[in-house]
Amino acid sequence: MKYTQELCPIIQKDTLNRTTFSFVVKSEKAVQTMQPGQFANLRVAGKTLRRPISVCGFNREEGWIRFVFEIRGEGTAILARMNEGDTLDILAPLGNGFAIDPTEKAVFVGGGIGVPPLLGASAPYGENATVLLGFRNMRAIILSDEFEANGADVRIATDDGSYGHHGFVTQLLAQRLDEAPCDVIYACGPTPMLKLVAAEAEQRGIRCMVSLEERMGCGVGACLVCACKTKREDGSETYRHVCKNGPVFDSREVVWE
Ligand SMILES: Cc1cc2nc3c(=O)[nH]c(=O)nc-3n(C[C@H](O)[C@H](O)[C@H](O)COP(=O)(O)OP(=O)(O)OC[C@H]3O[C@@H](n4cnc5c(N)ncnc54)[C@H](O)[C@@H]3O)c2cc1C
Ligand code: FES
Repeated sequence: MKYTQELCPIIQKDTLNRTTFSFVVKSEKAVQTMQPGQFANLRVAGKTLRRPISVCGFNREEGWIRFVFEIRGEGTAILARMNEGDTLDILAPLGNGFAIDPTEKAVFVGGGIGVPPLLGASAPYGENATVLLGFRNMRAIILSDEFEANGADVRIATDDGSYGHHGFVTQLLAQRLDEAPCDVIYACGPTPMLKLVAAEAEQRGIRCMVSLEERMGCGVGACLVCACKTKREDGSETYRHVCKNGPVFDSREVVWE
């Protein structure tokens, strides 16, 4: 894993809703080898540990990377107070991203703050992408118009029924797969959602890649904080690092607890 530390000026800050922010930062080095689904570890003023945030989008020629994050605790609250012109200290690109083949028919399933990394991953697929997004309620919906602008068939579920399908995004997945086959499923979101997506994919014999979230320390494979249980091909179990071996795993490798 080849990563770099870079000081990146924030060139655009947008507020997507009360607690969710989008930063576009200028990057010369880290962006050069970046892949969709990878993440960056962001330094937070006054905190020892960096915070892992997925890459939502990037452009090598124009030299920028985009992050979309939600305030969850102190660290992300400090990040949210940064402004255009401030400098973000990033370690990136980290982890293994999604294997992209835009000739395939792909279904992307995102839940809540798991949605941002799917924007960059689905963009090359254009009309070959179906994007299923699940949120708590209408106010929590983010980025749906940007998925649509990329040509994807976008369908939305909300837990309280205030927009789109009333229920879980996994119900939209079953409906979509009943309509037509697909070659691959990519998913990012809460673990219970990922577990259901993996089960649906396995039952129908569809390849499925999931992006896992674990608490992290170093972000580069040195501290063992982010261990997750996985299966080898012979069925025996082993621990792997979400930061180094993931965050994207084949769903059949993951031991769902
Ligand atoms: C690979 C990966 C990609 C992620 N991508 C995004 C993203 O694109 N957008 C987004 O909003 N959030 C993302 N997260 C979650 C984000 O890292 C946490 O919300 C954030 O670290 C919380 O920090 P805090 O200081 O605000 O919260 P606190 O709870 O105060 O954090 C305390 C400590 O726990 C760690 N921690 C807390 N929650 C998490 C968590 N869920 N995952 C990892 N470490 C955690 C923090 O790094 C910190 O060391 C991602 C997490 C991972 C592992
Ligand atoms: S976060 Fe330190 S090994 Fe993964």
